[in-house]
Amino acid sequence: MSTQNSENPSTNRRSFLGFLGATFLSLTALVMGFAGSLYSILPAFSKSKKDTLWQNLTPLDKLPNGISKHSLTINAQTGWANSQTEKIVWVVKENQSLNVFSAVCPHQGCIVNQQANEFICHCHMSKWKMDGVKSQGPTPRDLDKLDHRINNNNLEINYQNFKIGVSEKTPLA
Ligand code: FES
Repeated sequence: MSTQNSENPSTNRRSFLGFLGATFLSLTALVMGFAGSLYSILPAFSKSKKDTLWQNLTPLDKLPNGISKHSLTINAQTGWANSQTEKIVWVVKENQSLNVFSAVCPHQGCIVNQQANEFICHCHMSKWKMDGVKSQGPTPRDLDKLDHRINNNNLEINYQNFKIGVSEKTPLA
């Protein structure tokens, strides 16, 4: 009686190669999936550059007395995307005191302007005194003061956005 080997060598070879191919494809998919996941979540763990960014506004000796308007470019990073926005700030220099205010109206976010020795928002006619204290209109609070410092005879500011329409000055992330 003859025993017949049901396992054909060429079939075995094909099965083995198929297994190798499937394993290779699975590993490739796994590595690519892992790399893709890492790529998408890494920005969430990196510290935003904006958090610690002090920006140079103007040399101190070029700063006039009274109210002066300045603009600066803010770089923001959201995930992997970088964006730039232009912001306006008001600087008030009186004798030895210096204040920097955001030009964003705390009421509904219009741009605050200067009118003689005070600030005015033409959207709903809110007004603030030179020291940023509210004097008229529907604004819920004073102008938002920005942190500033003098570094190498330059005025530097840490620009922030604040929640509008609320009485408390609340920084936005
Ligand atoms: S947005 Fe400025 S007063 Fe309303």
